Amino acid sequence: MGQNLDGMAIPKHVALILDGNGRWAKRRGLPRTMGHKEGCVTVEKTVETAARLGIEYLTVYGFSTENWKRSAEEVGALMQLFRYYMVRLLKIASANNVRVRMIGDRRRFDKDIIEGINRLESETKGNTGLTFVIAVNYGGRDEITRAVRRLAEDCAAGRLKAEDVTEATVASYLDTADMPDPDLLIRTSGELRLSNYLLWQLAYTEIFVTDCLWPDFNQEELEKAILAYNKRERRFGGVR
Ligand code: IPE
Ligand code: IPE
Ligand code: MG
Repeated sequence: MGQNLDGMAIPKHVALILDGNGRWAKRRGLPRTMGHKEGCVTVEKTVETAARLGIEYLTVYGFSTENWKRSAEEVGALMQLFRYYMVRLLKIASANNVRVRMIGDRRRFDKDIIEGINRLESETKGNTGLTFVIAVNYGGRDEITRAVRRLAEDCAAGRLKAEDVTEATVASYLDTADMPDPDLLIRTSGELRLSNYLLWQLAYTEIFVTDCLWPDFNQEELEKAILAYNKRERRFGGVR
C-alpha cells in the first residue's frame, strides 16, 4: 500500500468535496441517511490515510450553506451524525496527532454542536501532524460576505484604510486565514461543479473528479488523485 507514490510530490493541501452518499444508499435500496453514515466512516479513514501520507492540510466539505434546503428529516439526521462523529473524531485526532479546525458559520448550529466544535478545536490545537479542516454550514459566498462585512466595519472604525486593502488583507478576513491555498481539489461522484466551495482559495488549484461515490472512496482513490496531480504542470497565470 502506498508504494506507487514513491518519488511523487505529496500535495500540501488537499480539498475534498465528498459527494454521492445519497446515490450510494439509493443503489443499495437504503435510506439516504445510511449513505451519510457510511460516508462518515470514509471520512475517518481518509483522515488517517492523509495523515499517514504526509498531507499537511485536508479540508472536507461536510455541510454547505445550501444543504439546509434538504428535507427536515435529512438535515436532522445529518446533525445527529455530526454530534456522534465529533466525539469519535476527538479520539481519532488524538491518536493520529491531528489538529481539527472548522470553517463556515457555526453560529447557526444548536448550542451543543457549537460547544462540541469549540472543544474539538481547543483540545487538538497543540497537535502537530495533519490539520483536518471541516467545512460546515460553509459557503464560499457566505464566507466572503462575512469577511467583507468585518472588513467594512474595520474601515468604518478607522482600524483599516480602504487604500491599504490588498489580496492578503482580504485573505486574512476569510475563515481560512493563515492556511495555504489548496493544491489539489478532489470531487467524488462525478459532478463537474464547485457547489460554492472555497471560491477564493481554489483560484489556481488542480482539479480531480472521480466517479467513485464518497462511501467507496479509499486510499487507492486518493493515490490515483495524487498521481494525476503529479502529471499536471501547475500554472499560476504565467507562461511556460
Ligand atoms: C454528500 O452526499 C453529503 C452531503 C452533501 C451532506 P449527497 O447527500 O450530496 O449525495 P448525493 O449527491 O445525493 O448522491
Ligand atoms: C456539495 O455537495 C456540498 C457538500 C459536499 C457538503 P452537494 O451534493 O450539496 O452539491 P450539489 O447540490 O450537487 O451542487
Ligand atoms: Mg450531492
